[in-house]
Formats: sequence, C-alpha cells, structure tokens
Amino acid sequence: SSPFVVAVDGPSGSGKSSTARGVAQRLGFAYLDTGAMYRAVTWALLQRGVDTGDASAVAEAAPAVRIVSGTDPGAPTIHADGTDVSVQIRGEDVTAHVSPVATVPAVRGLLVQLQRSVIAGCAADGIVVEGRDIGSTVAPDAPVKIYLVADPAARAARRAAETGATDTAGTAESLARRDRIDSTRAASPLTRADGSVEIDSTHLGLAEVVETIVGLVQEVR
Ligand code: C5P
Repeated sequence: SSPFVVAVDGPSGSGKSSTARGVAQRLGFAYLDTGAMYRAVTWALLQRGVDTGDASAVAEAAPAVRIVSGTDPGAPTIHADGTDVSVQIRGEDVTAHVSPVATVPAVRGLLVQLQRSVIAGCAADGIVVEGRDIGSTVAPDAPVKIYLVADPAARAARRAAETGATDTAGTAESLARRDRIDSTRAASPLTRADGSVEIDSTHLGLAEVVETIVGLVQEVR
C-alpha cells in the first residue's frame, strides 16, 4: 500500500527542513529532502565542469548522474555517483548554481520520477516530502499539503545562523535571488498548491509548527 504523504513546500529559509524532519520524527514517518537531490545533481555537474547556465549542456549531462537519497529523518544522507555529498551540497558554490539547474525540464523530469519511486518504495507508514513542487507536481494527491512561509528578514536570519554567515544582507540577497528564479521558471514553479494549508512561521517556534502539522495529519489519517 502507498504511504501517507505529507507535502511541505515553500521558499528558501522558511524552515522547511527542520519542520519536515520534526514532523517525520514525531510520526515515525520517512523523510525526503528533494532540494538535496537538485543540489546533488548540481554538485555532480560542477565536478564535471558543465556550464550550469547552459540548459542544453545540463540536460545532456544530468541523466548520467546517479542520485541516492536516504530517508531517515534523524540522519538524512544523499549520494551522487557513490559519493556522500551531504556536506558539499550546502556549500556556496552549489547554492549559487542550483536554481538555474532546477529550471531545466529534463532535470526536473528525472528527479520527479526518482522522487515518486522513493515515495512508492517507502517502508514506513508515511513520508514527509519537502521541496517547491511536492503538492503541485510530485504528489498532487497528498492528503496533507503545507505551504510554509516566513518574512524575508526572518528567513535570512535563520539561514545565516545555520551557515554561520555574518553577512545577513548577502544571505538575504541570495535567498531573494533563488526565490525569484524558483517562482518564475516555466517548469513547475514554486507556488501554493491547491488544497494546501499556509503556515507563517515568522513568529512561531519550530515545536509549534511541527505540532500544528502533526495535528493536521491526525485529523485526516
Ligand atoms: O530546499 P533547498 O533550498 O535545498 O533547494 C535548493 C534548490 O533546489 C531550490 O532553490 C530550487 O531551485 C530547487 N528545488 C526545486 N524543486 C524542489 C526542491 C528544490 O526546484 N522540489
């Protein structure tokens, strides 16, 4: 039987990862970070010297990249071509190049297919899947869809705290740039999916957001 899917979408720095992992841990569900998959493809393309701004070069090189996602919310892992790239994909280089790579339809096609197969093969009762297009494209039938937002200043401050960056203005600019590319691309842009519940985490703690979502799951499950 297919697992219960909780879709968590939203812009960069809205707290998706901590929230999605927290919900999965509370419910004993698996966890899939689809952003890590786009990042891992980007890492592999950069390794190969592919120009990430050249959509046809990206489309040509991407199918050879082998991505394997771990689904343990306590210790998520991601491998590209057999290498654990969990640390490398958080670097500035990957962060700066991932959004252009994610606009390429061939890349999205490959990863959406892979994401659906991870969901279908999930051994847990449910899976929390985070990204930009989960409720709209990857799992449009998900019984619970969350659209997580937060004020830009709150998002930049959180992201800077995570990465240890002291340049909050630079972090804010980098988030705004990714949001712009992610929201305006033609292929499954970041958008509020039909039937999603919007949660603004600007003034909420992580535990409150997690409990709100756990409550929504328990209502429909
Ligand atoms: O979530 P995270 O910030 O790690 O995602 C990195 C990038 O991957 C996003 O800025 C976006 O360009 C892309 N992405 C996407 N669709 C998803 C998840 C991530 O396009 N489902």
